[in-house]
Amino acid sequence: MSLPPPPMGLIAELTHRCPLQCAYCSNPLALDPPASELTTEEWLHVLDQAAALGVLQAHFSGGEPMARRDLARLVAQAAARGLYTNIITSGVLLTDAAMAELLAAGIDHIQLSFQDSRTAEAERIGGYRGGHAKKLEAARRIREADLPLTANFVLHKQNAERVEEMIALGEELQAERIEIAHTQYYGWGLLNRNALLPSLAQLEHVTAAVMAARERLKGRIVIDYVVPDYYAARPKACMGGWGNRLINVSPSGKALPCHAAETLPGFTFPSVRSETLAAIWNESEAFRRFRGTEWMPDLCRTCDRREIDWGGCRCQALALAGDAAATDPACAKSPDHGLLAEAAAAAANAPLDLVPRRLHAQDA
Ligand code: SF4
Ligand code: FES
Repeated sequence: MSLPPPPMGLIAELTHRCPLQCAYCSNPLALDPPASELTTEEWLHVLDQAAALGVLQAHFSGGEPMARRDLARLVAQAAARGLYTNIITSGVLLTDAAMAELLAAGIDHIQLSFQDSRTAEAERIGGYRGGHAKKLEAARRIREADLPLTANFVLHKQNAERVEEMIALGEELQAERIEIAHTQYYGWGLLNRNALLPSLAQLEHVTAAVMAARERLKGRIVIDYVVPDYYAARPKACMGGWGNRLINVSPSGKALPCHAAETLPGFTFPSVRSETLAAIWNESEAFRRFRGTEWMPDLCRTCDRREIDWGGCRCQALALAGDAAATDPACAKSPDHGLLAEAAAAAANAPLDLVPRRLHAQDA
């Protein structure tokens, strides 16, 4: 058996704890309880193994990675092993002291998420009073530390009309990069899809605003744009292909080819507590199942985009078509493509009530 190339990035989901309750969260509905989290020593070992395997980037995420008191220790270990270090955070815990610790640890980049351009709307979605002001402070600290800042805005039908304001806020915060990301419908986002999925007219408004801003800000700020699959003709290359570029480790140590993989039936995902990262990546059934093109249905296997989008997203194929091995319904060639229009129609007149993300009993 020839070995696959090593993953480019490790996504270290340090914890599912989070002070916010965003209803679009892509974390699984069954969140890992705090008592199940990997210890500091276990994460240090994972980072050592990742570097030895050839991983280049460590993305610390969650939940809220800053809810872990050992975050700076883990960043320092990753940096010492030569990994590029990135934190994906809501920013509400990024105090002066936390910033100083992270800088001393060698952090390379911080991605800060915003729920909206306006305080009241942002705090309604995030369920955290005072959060928006803390994020603005966090952005200021990141810029004062001379770290590159990515300002991420998650779009949905309840905030799409403010996309121009969001881009203006990103400019004001002197972000190097602004990410306008439509909600991806996994986990809590899927549960709340009817209250979040924008109309085609809203999508077109957002797209036009992004294109105009890209032109205006060319050479100054990069604007990334993540579109919703529900209006696409071709799917995204989810995770850059299954078992191809990224390895995700959940708070309790399960190694996953993507953050939503635990929704897939018939899998036993290996744990970093009992297996090495190299064995998991190179040999485990879970990572090999949808790697490459062999597993594909004929439609994809004979298509010239098969090594561009890798057949799309397995979790979306399961969620929409009921079969993780099917062509992603986001592809217009899929026999299930009509399901997307049905979902959009169902969302059109749906109530806007949201189910907030919660750690259930442990956290409520
Ligand atoms: Fe991608 Fe498969 Fe659609 Fe081709 S048929 S574009 S490989 S999802
Ligand atoms: Fe799991 Fe796309 S989210 S493969």
